[in-house]
Formats: sequence, C-alpha cells, structure tokens
Amino acid sequence: MPKAKNAADDTPTRRSVLIAGAGIGLTATACTREARPSAGAPGPGARAARRRQAGVTTPQQATALILAYDLDPALRGAAGARELKAVLGSWTRALSETQEPQENLETQDARAAGGGRESRLTATLGVGPGLPDRLGLRAPDALRDLPSFPGDRLDPARCGGDVLVQLCADSADVTEATAATLTRLAGDALVPRWRQAGFLPPSPDGGGTPRDLLGFKNGSANPTAEECERWVWSGDATYLVVRRVHLRVEDFARLAVHRQEEVVGRRRATGAPLDGGSEDDEVDPLAKDAQGRYTTPPRSHVRAVSPRLDDGARMLRRSYSYADGPTDQGLLFLAFMRDPALFARVQRRMAAQDDLTAFIQARGSAVAYVLPGAGPGRPLGAELLA
Ligand code: HEM
Repeated sequence: MPKAKNAADDTPTRRSVLIAGAGIGLTATACTREARPSAGAPGPGARAARRRQAGVTTPQQATALILAYDLDPALRGAAGARELKAVLGSWTRALSETQEPQENLETQDARAAGGGRESRLTATLGVGPGLPDRLGLRAPDALRDLPSFPGDRLDPARCGGDVLVQLCADSADVTEATAATLTRLAGDALVPRWRQAGFLPPSPDGGGTPRDLLGFKNGSANPTAEECERWVWSGDATYLVVRRVHLRVEDFARLAVHRQEEVVGRRRATGAPLDGGSEDDEVDPLAKDAQGRYTTPPRSHVRAVSPRLDDGARMLRRSYSYADGPTDQGLLFLAFMRDPALFARVQRRMAAQDDLTAFIQARGSAVAYVLPGAGPGRPLGAELLA
C-alpha cells in the first residue's frame, strides 16, 4: 500500500515553513467585502466563533496559484481516508506554524499600513466531488460535478481533482515555494493533476477593484459581509468554482469602448452602471430610460448574471488573470458560494443571453467543497474524515 511519504514524520524545516508562512484560517473572522470601502465591516458571523479558511473573504493578494491533486488511485476506503488524514495533518502543521493572524489579512488597512506578514500568503483547501465516495465518506449535499455548458471546450487535463488548493500571496515566489512544500509533504498519496497560476494586471487606478484582461473592473458587484453570511458561507464551509476561461482579448479590444460597455453592462473607466452613479451602485437590469429603452442592454453580461434573476442569490468572485503565452490568456475565474448550483444557473443564462460569450471560452473547470478552517487540535479535514 503506498504510504503518504513524509506525512507523519517529515516536519518541514523552519526555513521551509517560513517560506510557506501561511494564512490558514484558525481564528474567528468577519466576512469582508472585497475591495470595497466597507471592507472589514463586521458581519453577523463576526459574533460567533468561526473557524473559516483564509483566502475567501480576504482582500485579494497580487498572485494566485491553484493546485489540483488526485488521491493515489490505489487508495480507497478507510485506508485511503487514513492516508489523506495524515497528509492534511502535515499540511496543517506546516501552514499554521508561522501563521499570520487572520484578522490582519481581512482588512485592506492591514495592507496599507504594511501590517502583517509581507507576502500575505493564504492557503485555501477543498475536496472534489469524486473523493468522499471513494473513501466511504458522506459527501456534503451540494458537492457534485458541474454539468457541461454550451460553448465549453474543456481540456480534461485542466479539469477536476480530488483535492484543490488555492494559494494566494503578494509574490509568486511565495506561492511557488509553498506549493513545493505541500507537494513534498503529500508524498505518494496525492499526485499533482494540474496547476494554474494567476495574477492581477496592473491597475491604472492604483488599487481598488482589480481589472481583467478586457480592461474592466472585475469584482465590483461582490456581496457585502452580510450577504456573504447568507449566500457564501454554509457554517464554516463554502464551495469554490474554478474556471479557466480563455479570452479573445484582441477581438474585444477592437470594439469601440461604448460597444465594449454594452457587452459588459458597466462603464469601462469607472465600473459604474451605464445609467450613471458610481462603481458601488447596483445595476438595475430592468431600468428604462425616458424613451422606454433598457439602460442596460438585455444581452449584456451583468444583466445575464444579475442576482435578481436568482432571487437575490450571490456568489463571491475572486478572480485572477492568466497568461500562458501570447495566444492563451484569460480569466482564472474563482468564485465562492454556498451552493454551486447557483454557478450552473448563472452560467446557463450566460450561454443563452450574454454577448460576452462571443469573447470567452471555458477550457478548464473544477469544483471543491472548501473545508472548515483548522483549529487547536482540529487539523484541516477533521470534520470530513472523522
Ligand atoms: C471569463 C469571463 C468573464 C469576464 C471577463 C467577466 C467580467 C465581468 C465584469 C467586468 C463584471 C462587472 C463588474 C463586476 O461586478 O465585477 C462582471 C460581473 C459579474 N459576473 Fe462576470 N465575467 C466573466 C465570467 C463570469 C462567469 C463565468 C460568471 C458566473 C457564471 C460571472 C458572474 C458574474 C456576476 C455574478 C457578476 C455580478 C453581477 C451583479 O451583481 O451585478 N462572470 N463580470
């Protein structure tokens, strides 16, 4: 039986841990609004002791690295669960030893003040839909493979995975070093399946909501702290949807700016709704002007994905850009939500009624149940593997 080499006995050296210096969630934290003026505002969850992983409501760091692993195919049932438990135990120890207090990661102020660890590393772990069954564990209800969507051109080598890790930090050196530590500690039990690096393009505004490679602010209409409590968290857990979405950047750039804005449904320079106001204002997809025309085009992206068409249900988008060569660039779409069925509904509407789909194509895809955070005596995965 393959053994999780190093899992129990190979404590990482002080140096490797320092490199890894991670922000796994160990403490109570408020759900913060991403890149919005109210970031850091305590939500209802702040009152209860929470054990949530960092990297969900944490303000975005400059770089991301998504790692997908498969459990060794020879591992099944209780023996497989034991091996996974050993790996997650060693990962928890490695990542928590030099842990940044999570509160320091959750506010924009900490970053502005230079507070906290320089790299602001967070590691966010989840398990894929195939894993619980194989290990004889009860799968969380909403953990299912995503359906296929019209227009996808998925490469199986960039899809799925039994264990997904989102590493984010202000330097790619730090995410890379952490990835190396995690892979070494996984031994033979977890086999790397795919990985995807992401970055935030330089913003002409110097801060604020990051822009995507189409040049638009991406993340403006994210849920508030209160909305995160209702729509993103399920207790201390959540779900992560990853989509590697190729963008036809050149073709989009050839459109006149006003046409680009019609396709997206917000202003390119400011992120404001097309009928005025500021970036913080919601788009009313049904608003009409004096002539009775919709102010936000019916086939615009923000109209197709509007939460108003989902009884208000929200997802928290925390996307990065990727560039793997001149012809392969796009959005590393990362979104957290309490039920990935929301993603499927929104994506189907995009396929049916969103002019942005002419410029995008999903080439990789994965979904994961993001485990509750670790705590004293409770390594990551404790609930699932109990
Ligand atoms: C990959 C190409 C995509 C690009 C370039 C893109 C871009 C944008 C932009 C510029 C906005 C407006 C600003 C903002 O609120 O962030 C936006 C909003 C939004 N997008 Fe996307 N998006 C993409 C894919 C997706 C996908 C795959 C989904 C989910 C299925 C999605 C869901 C949303 C949602 C929920 C909003 C907020 C709408 C609102 O509350 O008003 N997007 N997107």
